[in-house]
Amino acid sequence: MTSPQDFMRKDLQVVHGCPMIHAFTSNWERIEQFQNRLDDIVIATYPKSGTTWVSEIVDMILNDGDVEKCKRDFITVKVPMLEMALPGIRTSGIEQLEKNPSPRLVKTHLPTDLLPKSFWKNNCKMIYMARNAKDVAVSYYHFELMNNLHPLPGSWGEYLEKFMTGNVAYGSWFNHVKSWWKKKEEHPILFLYYEDMKQNPKQEIKKIVKFLEKNLNDEILDRIIHYTSFEMMKENPLVNYTHVPTSVMDHSKSPFMRKGVTGDWKNYFTVAQNEKFDAIYEKEMSGASLQFCTEI
Ligand code: PPS
Repeated sequence: MTSPQDFMRKDLQVVHGCPMIHAFTSNWERIEQFQNRLDDIVIATYPKSGTTWVSEIVDMILNDGDVEKCKRDFITVKVPMLEMALPGIRTSGIEQLEKNPSPRLVKTHLPTDLLPKSFWKNNCKMIYMARNAKDVAVSYYHFELMNNLHPLPGSWGEYLEKFMTGNVAYGSWFNHVKSWWKKKEEHPILFLYYEDMKQNPKQEIKKIVKFLEKNLNDEILDRIIHYTSFEMMKENPLVNYTHVPTSVMDHSKSPFMRKGVTGDWKNYFTVAQNEKFDAIYEKEMSGASLQFCTEI
């Protein structure tokens, strides 16, 4: 019998060059052979970049802002994570996707080259949300403290070193954002930024509405903005991940809905860490036309 302990705090395993959560790596062929449906909508992100936020927004858009319909289930059921697998313990992402009605929302943190080929072949719509690397690092550090599926992060300083070298689950933030940015040249990908969503949610939500070929009036847009605000989502047990067993996510170590702000990195980076990070950033992102904002 498999027990949750079999998956806890295990070292990452490398899958096709990408460090991956140990529990997710069993039977990786199920991911490679996954057959999408033509109207699947993929929500892709590097971890901690606003996946849950944009997932709830998209679900509200597809349900024309109907709050009751959006309460039909947990976010992990409405928007299953493709690669999530805890064999013998929980319904995997793929098993849940197979049960969901179309159009399905598919969450993934996979880099472009690990996404099942069928998604690319069938030209299905994808929304990618990116968040500035410094806030991602801070958010990811706290997540690793509370999520026992990840290896222990160590001290903040130790963790930041791992993050900068891509030695964390899903690998390098730099490669992730750059490869998804490039993919949008040849594929229908709506590329969004967490910071833009914070600053001007109406403008960003309108972009999603247009991309999904929906038509929503101002009242509905305002309702969506209200129900997907950080304050509302933090208190909503259907989206704040408090339904996940404590053996997996221990919110007493750090809540999933932690701060939801831009610029929190300034409370964690020392001057020396920031200088080193900026130097690596400069090197990794040179030539990329992606522009991030680290404070608003
Ligand atoms: S995961 O585990 O990778 O799927 O996490 P993800 O949902 O991508 O990212 C979690 C961070 O997003 C913040 N969050 C929000 N920010 C603003 N508004 C809303 N509504 C919102 N919902 C989630 C969440 O608090 C995490 O960021 P930090 O900086 O840790 O607070």
